[in-house]
Amino acid sequence: MYEGDIASVLISEDEIREKTAELAAIIAERYPVGAPEGDLLLVGVLKGAVFFMTDLARALPIPTQMEFMAVSSYGSSTSSSGVVRILKDLDKDIAGRHVLIVEDIIDSGLTLSWLMRNLSTRNPASLEVVTLLRKPDAVKADIKVANVGFDIPNEFVVGYGLDYAERYRDLPYIGTLEPTVYGG
Ligand code: XMP
Ligand code: MG
Repeated sequence: MYEGDIASVLISEDEIREKTAELAAIIAERYPVGAPEGDLLLVGVLKGAVFFMTDLARALPIPTQMEFMAVSSYGSSTSSSGVVRILKDLDKDIAGRHVLIVEDIIDSGLTLSWLMRNLSTRNPASLEVVTLLRKPDAVKADIKVANVGFDIPNEFVVGYGLDYAERYRDLPYIGTLEPTVYGG
């Protein structure tokens, strides 16, 4: 698939599966099953987090429910400004629920810090984040992310939900693109 477009495989399908199982085991420990707050609520950020979210949900040995949000950050397509617009909001009230935001990647962290502030005003019982990938710039951001799959170099990556111009989301691994793809 996408022959000639992928420069290198950064994280393989097996590595993603193993890491997801590890994260799932750690996360499951922290949430009591049968709590009055109800099942853990996974909040996925569309569209990039969809693949990670569905695999994580199936790896978690506790009951979870799913909600999705779509946001768009103003700014160029490759860097976000921190000004965020909600394209699709949650369908349900999260007050009193244990909420775990599921992200594909944290770069500057601006999108996530906005999302954390927004969701915390809705009074969840708890609010945490799990991200599959984190880029180096994220350390500068003022957000605490308890669960990180992989710290990756400051390169643009695609696959496993991540896109370039809406393509490559369906790759089962995380890879980097050949420069010719950007060059057009
Ligand atoms: P910030 O900078 O707010 O942005 O943390 C996070 C969002 O930026 C996108 N992003 C990427 N998307 N490959 C992608 O396909 C990348 O390497 C990449 N880096 C950042 C992504 O939408 C993420 O939610
Ligand atoms: Mg994108």
